[in-house]
Amino acid sequence: MSFRICLVNLLGFCLIFYEDHGRFCLDTVWQLPKPSISHLKAVNDKQSLLVSWLVKHSDFVGNIYEIQISRTENHTVIYNRNISLFSMDSNEYTWAWTSELPLECVDHSVRIRHFSNQSVPSPWSNWVTNDGVQPTDKTKLFPNQRVLREGTSAVFCCVPTRGVSITSITLNDNKSYIINIGARVKALKLDNLTIPTQRIKVLSLICTDSTGKQSYAGKYVSFPPQKPRNLSCATSDMTTVTCTWDPGRKRDQFDRNMQTRTLHIENSDQAPIQCEQSSCTFSAIPQLKEYNISVLVKDQLGEETESYSFNISDRVIPVVEWGRVSPGVTDTTLSWIVQANLTQLNLLCQVTTDPGSTTEMSCNSVSGLCKVKLELLPNTRYSTRVRCSVNGRLWGEWTQPRSFTTCPLVTLDVWRSIKQLSDPNSRQVTLLWSLHVSDSAATVHIQGYIVQWSEAQNWTEWKDSGQTQAEVSIGPGQYEFTVQAVLHIDSTIFAHITIPKSDGENRPVEKRLNSSTPAGFNLSWDQLDTATCGYTVEWCILGHAVPCTLRWMKVPEGNNTLFLPARNFKEGCRYTFNIYGCMENGHRLLEIQTGYSKELTSLQSPNLVEPVQSTSSSVTLEWHYNEDDPAHPAFITGYLVMVQKVGSDMPSDLFNVSVADPRRKSVTIEGLQQNQEYTLLVSALTKEGPGQPASITIRTRTNYSAHLAKILIPILLLLGCTILLWPQRGR
Ligand SMILES: *[C@@H]1O[C@H](CO)[C@@H](O)[C@H](O)[C@H]1NC(C)=O
Ligand SMILES: *[C@@H]1O[C@H](CO)[C@@H](O)[C@H](O)[C@H]1NC(C)=O
Ligand SMILES: *[C@@H]1O[C@H](CO)[C@@H](O)[C@H](O)[C@H]1NC(C)=O
Ligand SMILES: *[C@@H]1O[C@H](CO)[C@@H](O)[C@H](O)[C@H]1NC(C)=O
Ligand SMILES: *[C@@H]1O[C@H](CO)[C@@H](O)[C@H](O)[C@H]1NC(C)=O
Ligand SMILES: *[C@@H]1O[C@H](CO)[C@@H](O)[C@H](O)[C@H]1NC(C)=O
Ligand SMILES: *[C@@H]1O[C@H](CO)[C@@H](O)[C@H](O)[C@H]1NC(C)=O
Ligand SMILES: *[C@@H]1O[C@H](CO)[C@@H](O)[C@H](O)[C@H]1NC(C)=O
Ligand SMILES: *[C@@H]1O[C@H](CO)[C@@H](O)[C@H](O)[C@H]1NC(C)=O
Ligand SMILES: *[C@@H]1O[C@H](CO)[C@@H](O)[C@H](O)[C@H]1NC(C)=O
Ligand SMILES: *[C@@H]1O[C@H](CO)[C@@H](O)[C@H](O)[C@H]1NC(C)=O
Ligand SMILES: *[C@@H]1O[C@H](CO)[C@@H](O)[C@H](O)[C@H]1NC(C)=O
Repeated sequence: MSFRICLVNLLGFCLIFYEDHGRFCLDTVWQLPKPSISHLKAVNDKQSLLVSWLVKHSDFVGNIYEIQISRTENHTVIYNRNISLFSMDSNEYTWAWTSELPLECVDHSVRIRHFSNQSVPSPWSNWVTNDGVQPTDKTKLFPNQRVLREGTSAVFCCVPTRGVSITSITLNDNKSYIINIGARVKALKLDNLTIPTQRIKVLSLICTDSTGKQSYAGKYVSFPPQKPRNLSCATSDMTTVTCTWDPGRKRDQFDRNMQTRTLHIENSDQAPIQCEQSSCTFSAIPQLKEYNISVLVKDQLGEETESYSFNISDRVIPVVEWGRVSPGVTDTTLSWIVQANLTQLNLLCQVTTDPGSTTEMSCNSVSGLCKVKLELLPNTRYSTRVRCSVNGRLWGEWTQPRSFTTCPLVTLDVWRSIKQLSDPNSRQVTLLWSLHVSDSAATVHIQGYIVQWSEAQNWTEWKDSGQTQAEVSIGPGQYEFTVQAVLHIDSTIFAHITIPKSDGENRPVEKRLNSSTPAGFNLSWDQLDTATCGYTVEWCILGHAVPCTLRWMKVPEGNNTLFLPARNFKEGCRYTFNIYGCMENGHRLLEIQTGYSKELTSLQSPNLVEPVQSTSSSVTLEWHYNEDDPAHPAFITGYLVMVQKVGSDMPSDLFNVSVADPRRKSVTIEGLQQNQEYTLLVSALTKEGPGQPASITIRTRTNYSAHLAKILIPILLLLGCTILLWPQRGR
C-alpha cells in the first residue's frame, strides 16, 4: 500500500481519497503526528549539525524519518535523506550531518517527517534554524582560526558587512572556484589541500565586496600527528629516565598546528609529564621497577598514542668520563669514572686501543672508578676509547678518544774488562754500561747508577748519572754484579753480569780477517753449544792506539755473525775483536780476530843493514823491519826490492825482486854487472801495494882473474924486459 494524501485531518485521522482498480474511494486512515526537533546543535569547528528528536519505542520497527536541510532564509533544500532508526537506549534520537560549508557562513535549517507503512506520513516538523554569523562592520572569512587537514577538501566563505555583498574571492590570485551562497555570501571550494610550497606556508584568501573593499585571510594546512615510533626509555643513573621516539614526518617551522606531547606513567599516580618533540625526561619513582608508560601526541587535527613497558634495571646505559691515563713502557694504566652509583649492578666495560684490540672487563668499584692495565708496545702512539654497560645489555656511548704515547724502552747493557794484577789472587774489574733508548728523540732522565756485588758482604757503590763505568778489585772467585739505573722514583732498570773465576785462561790464537768489505766488518765465528746466553764482541774504538776505549756488542744466542759498519772505524787502523761466549758461569774468550776496515800503504821504510855485501855479480841486501807491529796501516805480506842500473833508462836495466815471507828480511840479487853502480829500493809489501822504500846505491866489485891477466901480462912483459936490459946499464 502506497502512502496516500491526507485531505482533511480530524483528531489524528485523515480523510483520504484514492483510486482502486478504476474506482474512486474515500477512506479515513490514522495519520502520524507531526514530529518536532528537540535540539539542534552546531559543532562549528567540525562543521556538523546534531539534530535530536523524541521517538517512541514502538517507532523503531519499519519506521523511517525523512530529513531535510536547507540553507538561507528561502529554505533552499541542499540535503534530503531517509533514515531508518536503530535500537537505542534513550528515547531521544540524535543524527549528525557534516557540512562542506562552514556553518558560520549562512543559516542552516532542518526539518523532519515520520513515515510508517501502515499510515499516512506525518506532516513536516517546523524548520529549526542554526543561524549563520550575524553581519558586523567587518568582512568575515570562514573557516576561521582552524588548521586545515592536508589531502581533504575545504570550502571557504566570505560573509560581508551589513548591507553589502561579496563580489569575488581569490585564492593565491586564482578566481576560478567561486560558488554563490544566497545573495550576499560567496564561497570557494578547494580539493585535496596541500601544504603550500612557498616559503610562507599559507593559503592566502582575498574577499572583495561590492564596495571594492578587500579582506585578507591566511589559512594553514597541516597534517595530523603520527604514532610515535621506536619509543624506548633509558637511564644513566637509575634516577632520571629519558624516553625517546621518532616523531615521524617533520613539521615545517611555520606550521600553526600546535602539538602537545605528554607522557603518562600508567602504573603510578604521577601527573602527566610535558615532553619535547621527540623526548621526555622524568624522575624515577622510588621503589618502582617496572614502568608502563604511554606517550600521547595531540594537535588540532588529531592525536596518537604509543605505549612502552620496561624494567628500569634493564635500561641502564652508563655514562663514562675519562680519568687518568698513565703510560708506561710496556703497559699503560687507564682509569675512568662511571657517573652514577651503579654498584649493585654488574658493570661491564670495553676498552679499545688503536692500534690494537678491544678488552672487556667488569668493574665493581664502589666509587665508580674503573681501572685497567693494558699490555702495549713501547714508544707507540695509541688512541683509546671506553664504554660501559650493565650486564652487556645496552652499551653506552664511546667516550671521546684519548691519545697517549707509551714510554720509550730503556735498556741497560753491561760489559766488563778484567785485568789480572801481579798478585795472582787479585784482579781489577772495570764494569762498563750504556743505556739504550728505543726512541733516539726521547730524553731519559737518569738520577744515577747503583753498582752492587757481594763478597763476604754486600757492596753497593753509587755512580752519578754522567758516569758509565766502575772499577772494582776482586779476588779469584766468581762474582755476580748488578748495575741498576735509577730513572725516577719507582722506576729502575737492572742489568746483571757474572765475572768468571780466574782460571789462567789460554788466549786463543789471533786470526787475521782476510778482507773486509768496504761497507764494514763481517765477523763470524764458530758456534759454541755452551754459549747459552749469546756472544759479546768487544774492541777498542781507536784500534791499537792507547788508551783503549772499549766498545762491545751483544749477539743473541744462536747467531754467530755480526756486521759492524765501516763508518765507526778508521782506515789503516788495525782493530782486534775479542769474541766471548756467554755461559752460565760468565763470559769466556772464544776467538780473537784482527783486521782493517781498509788497508793503506803508508808503511814506513825498512832499515837497511850496512855495509851491504856484494860481489862482482851480486848484492846481498839485509834489512830490519817489525812486520808484526800493530801500528802498521796494513798487514805486511812480504817485501819488494827494486833494482835499477845507474845511468841507464833501458827498461831491461830495471827489475823487481819480491820476498813473499814477511819474516825473511834478506835477499841476494844475482846477475849484476861487475863494477857497476846500482840503486836498490826496499819497501814492505801489503795487499794494497808497496810502502815507503829505503834506498841505497852500491857498485859491484871487479872480477880480478880476468882483469888481472889483462893488466898483469903487460906489466910482467915490461918487468922481464927491464930485467934483461938491466946488465947493459952503464956500458
Ligand atoms: C509494514 O512494515 C512491516 C515491517 O517492515 C512489515 O512487517 C509489514 O508487513 C508492513 N505492512 C505493510 C502493509 O506493508
Ligand atoms: C523517503 O521515502 C518516501 C516514501 O517511500 C518517499 O516518498 C521519498 O521520496 C523518500 N525520500 C528520499 C529523499 O529518498
Ligand atoms: C586556478 O584554479 C583552476 C582550478 O583548479 C586551475 O585549473 C588553474 O590552473 C588555476 N590557475 C592558477 C593561475 O593557479
Ligand atoms: C528568496 O525569496 C525572495 C522572494 O521570493 C526572492 O526575492 C529572493 O531572491 C530569494 N532569495 C534567494 C537567495 O533565492
Ligand atoms: C592530492 O595532492 C597530492 C599532492 O599534490 C597528490 O599526490 C595526490 O594524488 C592528490 N590526491 C588526489 C585524490 O587527487
Ligand atoms: C625503529 O627500530 C627498528 C628496529 O629497532 C629499526 O630497524 C628502524 O630503523 C627504526 N626506525 C626509526 C625510524 O628509527
Ligand atoms: C604493564 O602493562 C602490561 C600490559 O598492558 C600489564 O600486563 C602489566 O601488568 C603492567 N604492569 C604494571 C606494573 O602495571
Ligand atoms: C620485568 O622483570 C620481570 C621480572 O624480572 C619480568 O617478569 C618482566 O617480564 C620484565 N618486564 C619487562 C617489560 O621487561
Ligand atoms: C651506592 O648505592 C649503594 C646501594 O644502593 C649504597 O649502599 C652506597 O652508599 C651508595 N654509594 C654512594 C657513593 O652513593
Ligand atoms: C746480600 O743481599 C742479599 C739480597 O739482598 C741477601 O740475601 C744476603 O743475605 C746479603 N748478604 C750479606 C752478606 O749481607
Ligand atoms: C782467508 O782466506 C784464505 C784463502 O783465501 C782461507 O783459507 C782462510 O780460511 C780465510 N780465513 C778466514 C778467517 O776467512
Ligand atoms: C744475526 O744477527 C744479524 C743482525 O742482527 C741478522 O742480520 C742475522 O740475520 C742474524 N742471523 C741469524 C742466523 O739469526
